[in-house]
Amino acid sequence: MHPMVNIAVRAARSAGNVIVRNMDRLDRLHVEAKGNNDFVSDVDRMAEREIVQTLKRAYPDHGILGEEYGGKANGDYLWVIDPLDGTTNYLHGFPHFAVSIALLHRGAPEVAVIYDPVRQELFTATRGGGATIEGRRIRMRPRRSIEGALLGTGFPFRYPEHQGSYLGMFQSIMGSTGDIRRAGSAALDLAYVACGRLDGFWELGLSPWDIAAGVLLIQEAGGIVSDFAGDNGYLKSGNVVAGSLKLHADLLRHITPHLTDDLRC
Ligand code: IPD
Ligand code: CA
Ligand code: CA
Repeated sequence: MHPMVNIAVRAARSAGNVIVRNMDRLDRLHVEAKGNNDFVSDVDRMAEREIVQTLKRAYPDHGILGEEYGGKANGDYLWVIDPLDGTTNYLHGFPHFAVSIALLHRGAPEVAVIYDPVRQELFTATRGGGATIEGRRIRMRPRRSIEGALLGTGFPFRYPEHQGSYLGMFQSIMGSTGDIRRAGSAALDLAYVACGRLDGFWELGLSPWDIAAGVLLIQEAGGIVSDFAGDNGYLKSGNVVAGSLKLHADLLRHITPHLTDDLRC
């Protein structure tokens, strides 16, 4: 295994242990609202500290950007961490969440690790080195359109101003596809696209730590990821569309007519 993947896997597994160990005391966790419908618990913070400790020990000179403690860039390498993607699921005991760790090199994802601590399922990718689930290589199946597909999405519950646009996209897509899931962890949704459990995905207003690892997994599995303009500004805008080549284009065709000016990126 690539040495940087090895370290990221070690970090993700130890964060996963913290997350799972605390699942039987959810009612005793300290939970705070960071913003509109945006919660953080002691477990999110403990998990991030575990990850940062492991990464810092191995790569003291790399920059780190974590969801809970922030951080800063330092040189060409930046670790982007979501210690617990799917906090709302976690706090409700809904067993679907993940640890997401990506290493960016000059802004582009180079290493990706997504770990589901409940199923103990590990997804990894390295730029040019392919994507794996539990060590087995994954390739996305080509699909011609969204017809008959199973798509993932996320609701813009923190952005009332975009709900009208989103519902327009949703209605158009729902009328043409097989079915749609809103599972509650963008990182796992993207990993599921990479391994074929979902055929495509779209969501708006995500953060770099939700997306960075999943993007590389999909690209290395042969898929396409773009923002709503069809470009690669997703880490900045947080707007993501993903799928195999033709399905991605079809999904974007259903999204574009519903975009307001501030979503065209
Ligand atoms: C959230 C999850 C969710 C998505 C939200 C994210 P968090 O991450 O990925 O699926 O819809 O936009 O913020 O807050 O649980 O790390
Ligand atoms: Ca997240
Ligand atoms: Ca999180």
